[in-house]
Amino acid sequence: KTGYVCIDPAFVNTASTTSSITFLDGEKGILRYRGIPIEQLGEKSTFVETSYLLIYGKLPSKSELSRFSTLLTRHSLIHEDMKRFFDGYPSTAHPMAILSAMVLSLSSYYPEAIDVKNTEHLDITIARLLSKVRTIAAFSYKKSIGQPFVYPHNSLSYCANFLNMMFSVPAEPYEIDEDIVKVLNLLLILHADHEQNCSTSTVRLVGSSKANLFASVAAGICALWGPLHGGANQEVVTMLEAIRSDGGDVSKFVKLAKDKTSNFRLMGFGHRVYKNYDPRAVLIKAAADKILAKLGIKDPLLDIAQRLEETALKDPYFVERKLYPNVDFYSGIIYRALGFPTNMFTVMFALGRLPGWIAHWKEMNDDPTGKIGRPRQIYTGENAVDYTPLDERE
Ligand code: SDX
Repeated sequence: KTGYVCIDPAFVNTASTTSSITFLDGEKGILRYRGIPIEQLGEKSTFVETSYLLIYGKLPSKSELSRFSTLLTRHSLIHEDMKRFFDGYPSTAHPMAILSAMVLSLSSYYPEAIDVKNTEHLDITIARLLSKVRTIAAFSYKKSIGQPFVYPHNSLSYCANFLNMMFSVPAEPYEIDEDIVKVLNLLLILHADHEQNCSTSTVRLVGSSKANLFASVAAGICALWGPLHGGANQEVVTMLEAIRSDGGDVSKFVKLAKDKTSNFRLMGFGHRVYKNYDPRAVLIKAAADKILAKLGIKDPLLDIAQRLEETALKDPYFVERKLYPNVDFYSGIIYRALGFPTNMFTVMFALGRLPGWIAHWKEMNDDPTGKIGRPRQIYTGENAVDYTPLDERE
């Protein structure tokens, strides 16, 4: 379809064929991180522990987990000069634009991360990235609503710290709701890695030139922003709101999505690999029902989403093409219930995907035989033609 075939063995070695990080079976709807099913990790693990598993290849011992957690706690602040970057952004700046720029700028404050051959500081660099992205994300939200930045607090867990930075205000104490911390851990775990998706392939391709971790992940953030990829979770809510304001008739939108003359697609539906129900969507849908009931929230968009899914999954167009809800279909419903604005949804996806990006970048850099990614193509342009002088052209 695209006239693009990867035939360069160097690229095949470097960026995409072998990895021991994540296994997914699109036909059976199976997803495992380092062999462990996401259903077990979602139920029993935390995002910090799952991050360690993805990045270092095994579940941490007690002492390894304690050391990793301490590193994340100790490296959550951004340099005060970086805080001043926010003065230059308009309050309407999309937080994904800020996130990518700020992550790239971390390489200016930690130059020891630039030489990827020097792995002496790699653990600290990984901890800095995984920890500071929370702070950057929360500060970009506070900037957008004109509230004072709330600094990280060393007494709080990874997710509780992020929620506190996002939603507390100096004027009153913010009560951490453990159910919200739990569902946030689940969401971040379910987004943590997904094999060679668009943004992870971007991180690997950029990193294959020996670009540093901050630069490679900044590129991955840009790729994730696209509405066909991580940006879909924001587009799903926009779509559901359009259905609601149109009177809630989901069959009208299912029909529109089948109409090839419209460029409308059901956002949050379909997947490059899953030709079955995305296992993450199953868990997110159940979590949405649970947390909304716990918080006493009746979100009309959840009802519309469920009716849309039921209608589409009865329609031969979707059944024949094996188009099912993906990870983005229900996640926005939970983010809304937790108080995140829609323009933060893809930032939440990026926060979750960080350990996956880091793990793939590290796996590639740990491979001494790795080569720079250099895809080839099937050329479809003009054959050899002579230069035409300007006055002879139409
Ligand atoms: C993510 O790769 C990953 O792992 C990504 C991700 C991760 O964790 O990193 O899982 C995260 O990106 C999830 C996907 C989020 N994007 C969306 O929800 C956007 C809406 N979905 C589509 O645009 C689409 O389904 C894709 C991009 C996700 C997948 O596209 P494919 O597999 O390349 O499908 P296709 O474009 O080849 O379409 C096949 C057919 C086409 O119709 P025909 O040409 O056969 O007639 O299915 C149709 C498409 O028109 N189709 C849809 C549709 N998705 C595909 N029709 C209506 N609505 C849709 N959502």
